[in-house]
Amino acid sequence: MDVVSRKTITVTVNGESYERDVEARRLLIHFLRDDLDLTGSHIGCDTGNCGACSILLDGVLVKSCMMLAVQADGATIETVEGLAQDGELTGLQQAFSDHHGLQCGYCTPGMLMSATALLRSNAHPDDDEIRKGIQGNICRCTGYVNIVAAIRAAAE
Ligand code: FES
Ligand code: FES
Repeated sequence: MDVVSRKTITVTVNGESYERDVEARRLLIHFLRDDLDLTGSHIGCDTGNCGACSILLDGVLVKSCMMLAVQADGATIETVEGLAQDGELTGLQQAFSDHHGLQCGYCTPGMLMSATALLRSNAHPDDDEIRKGIQGNICRCTGYVNIVAAIRAAAE
């Protein structure tokens, strides 16, 4: 007999509360994208390497492909969709645009969440600290220089 374990979870995402019935094996990134239609967080590998799925969970940077949705029960989650307020980009988002910190944009949601976490814990990081802050995020386009410049500009 095929028995699929399920659980009802409640999460707050970008200030909105959601209650959903999920399979115990469902990854958090799939829950966000497919159940809540929050497709800003990307899937680049599913193995914890690329960082495209990075989100903040109770203020902590996590790769949402490395967690089960049921493990997020009760948590407060921030995704890239929650950064801009009332159509206004954050200073960090604007800096990515101004400094050409993206090309294809696939890595950008994860980069923005990692950089957001960095700037919250260290408002004035030097370049080494910026590079460490995004070391879990792979960008296949930019060579990182403009991403570092954007984060530096946002910090200034
Ligand atoms: S999709 Fe999660 S780290 Fe790549
Ligand atoms: S901008 Fe294309 S992967 Fe980073």
